[in-house]
Amino acid sequence: MQPLLPASILLLTTTAAAYLVPNPPGKYNVTLHIGTLADYTRDDSNTTDQAPRTLMLSVFQPATCTSTAPTEYMPEKTAEYQGPYLQGLFNFSTDLSPFFLQARLPVCPDLSNNCSPLNDPPILLFSPGWAIPRLYYSVIASAIASEGFMVITIDHPDDANIITYPDGHSIYHQGPSNPTPEDFNDYTWPRAADASFIIDQLSNATAMASLFPRRGARPFPTDRVAMLGHSLGGVASVVAAGRDPRIRAAIDWDGTIFAPLPASGISQPVMYVSEANVTDPTWVAAWTKLNGPKLWLEVADTKHMSFSDALMLLDAAGQAPADLMEQLGSIEAAELLRILAVYTTEWMNAAFAGKIGGPLLEGLEPGRFPGVEIKRKDNY
Ligand SMILES: *[C@@H]1O[C@H](CO)[C@@H](O)[C@H](O)[C@H]1NC(C)=O
Ligand SMILES: *[C@@H]1O[C@H](CO)[C@@H](O)[C@H](O)[C@H]1NC(C)=O
Ligand SMILES: *[C@@H]1O[C@H](CO)[C@@H](O)[C@H](O)[C@H]1NC(C)=O
Ligand SMILES: *[C@@H]1O[C@H](CO)[C@@H](O)[C@H](O)[C@H]1NC(C)=O
Ligand SMILES: *[C@@H]1O[C@H](CO)[C@@H](O)[C@H](O)[C@H]1NC(C)=O
Repeated sequence: MQPLLPASILLLTTTAAAYLVPNPPGKYNVTLHIGTLADYTRDDSNTTDQAPRTLMLSVFQPATCTSTAPTEYMPEKTAEYQGPYLQGLFNFSTDLSPFFLQARLPVCPDLSNNCSPLNDPPILLFSPGWAIPRLYYSVIASAIASEGFMVITIDHPDDANIITYPDGHSIYHQGPSNPTPEDFNDYTWPRAADASFIIDQLSNATAMASLFPRRGARPFPTDRVAMLGHSLGGVASVVAAGRDPRIRAAIDWDGTIFAPLPASGISQPVMYVSEANVTDPTWVAAWTKLNGPKLWLEVADTKHMSFSDALMLLDAAGQAPADLMEQLGSIEAAELLRILAVYTTEWMNAAFAGKIGGPLLEGLEPGRFPGVEIKRKDNY
């Protein structure tokens, strides 16, 4: 644990000081841009004070830089709301707020002359779990970006329990306390529409100039875009691929597929990544609708809640509260991060190259990640 802040800021917290998460594991460091994209065709003013619908995004870009600076993980308002929210949702006795407040991400200072972002890497959209803010996946997004992707994590309005905008105001969403499959289905479609809207805006030079002031008014190429997510965000990725052919591959981390997939199926490559010892019947049913290359992995010693930053934050802070560890699985944080980053990299790069394959995805490197089992594999 590395102290970074004066003690006065830490009065609310239970551990001693701010802590820095390790540099991301890939070839690059990352820059981070936070900003908004407003969809003037959609009006959320009935349910929030927002008109137009305004997506809050974190954009992680691969870069080389000689030094990184510790950067806020979550705004105070979000962190203080989020800890008790997760306690209520998952019946944790530990409040994660201090871990969110004290975490610092190592990020390349974009203004530094020593920082050069990789030019136009492929783009991955990341959609969070139901009700969960995008910020809870920043360590994972950094790790994937460090392998050479621009990763955009998305806050979906009318879904994320709290979204704090750059001007400091927040919008809140209180969903049903026991969501039904129908509720989850209803939450899926706006997420898919958000993904298509973001891809549209990547071509909008004006919108990109406001997200990346130093880059200038230039669009991003959208011929290499794919999507992944956790839980409902994983489902949204598969559904979005079914609606938008610009999404060239999808990955679902442990998301039960309640939304109907198109009758004609989905042609893009789709990978499922499952928690240990669970065979989700909706995945079995949806498998027949996946017409492209498809892979179903199961990761030993994980639970549904493993696929977020929680394990990495606790590990970096040197803490292991028993009630949380029970729900987060016993996998080692760094190993989980490598598994998620490496399989995402291999799957997406193969999809962009137009040919899924290679020793890891063919199952020919069983010793590399002994905890990962291929449950099913087809069409490649
Ligand atoms: C807002 O709510 C009113 C009343 O419930 C409804 O008639 C209207 O269609 C809603 N507008 C939008 C944009 O959702
Ligand atoms: C990443 O940042 C660290 C400093 O935190 C530096 O030592 C390392 O060389 C950087 N790596 C790259 C690829 O920029
Ligand atoms: C919440 O967890 C406590 C133990 O920490 C347990 O006694 C209680 O039954 C749990 N409540 C629910 C609703 O699962
Ligand atoms: C491009 O982005 C700008 C700034 O957000 C917006 O005003 C404009 O409507 C967008 N154009 C299109 C075609 O979406
Ligand atoms: C999962 O199954 C494996 C092999 O059957 C077993 O060793 C392990 O204890 C199980 N894990 C959990 C969390 O049930």
